[in-house]
Amino acid sequence: MLIVLSVGGSILAKDLDPKHFSAYASALKELANKHQIVVVTGGGVAARNYIDVARGVGANEVVCDFIGIDITRLNAQLLIAALGNTAYPEPPTTYKEAESALTSGKIVVMGGVIPGQTTDAVSAILAEYLNADMMVIATSVDGVYSSDPREDPEAKKFDVMTAKELVGIVISTEMKAGSKSPVDPLASKIIERCNIDTIIMDGTDPQDVLEVVLQEAVKTEKVTGVRLGTRIIG
Ligand code: UTP
Repeated sequence: MLIVLSVGGSILAKDLDPKHFSAYASALKELANKHQIVVVTGGGVAARNYIDVARGVGANEVVCDFIGIDITRLNAQLLIAALGNTAYPEPPTTYKEAESALTSGKIVVMGGVIPGQTTDAVSAILAEYLNADMMVIATSVDGVYSSDPREDPEAKKFDVMTAKELVGIVISTEMKAGSKSPVDPLASKIIERCNIDTIIMDGTDPQDVLEVVLQEAVKTEKVTGVRLGTRIIG
């Protein structure tokens, strides 16, 4: 199976601690024994800090996005370093480059691509382009909620939801200032249009991601329970 894995910078590059990169590298090596993997890394706090400075000096949002993209690529390079020769040596900078890199048989790791989106959208577009079998969004929250759980004690977590429901939730969350949905609106629209099997889950522990992907891939019994997060169905 071909799996696209989006790993949020907030978990991979948390405190810029090498142990998070090493732990992800071990889990990915194990996964790569059975499946083809493309990983898209986020920017995390470093991206936000650099973007704040850029805004502070008057940069426009496109310039800020380019700076964010550079940080996502730095995180990709750190993960590549942790993976050693099981990884393709450079982060592809386009979807087509990623497709060519996959022919190496190595784990492909990349960051952002163009301004105006986040790495969740990169993952979704890549998953559609490569006709991937599954996409996993490993993030710092344990799934998709009916509203922002930090603000609304009544917020309910979805174990399963349709892509259309995801789009509705993401758009209503994004409209509220300061709120942040678990995937960006563009990513949710791409998931809706290509109907890819998607899981949004807490990726703090890469072993959880490994287990969920391995069990999902078998397809005999769908994973359930806390580790799964939210499954998006067509
Ligand atoms: P992220 O994907 O890390 O954004 O990209 P995020 O939603 O803040 O993610 P977490 O917190 O890591 O999960 C960081 C920034 O890089 C730019 C955007 O400015 C984004 O906010 N970016 C990234 C792009 O402009 N284009 C891309 O393709 C990717």
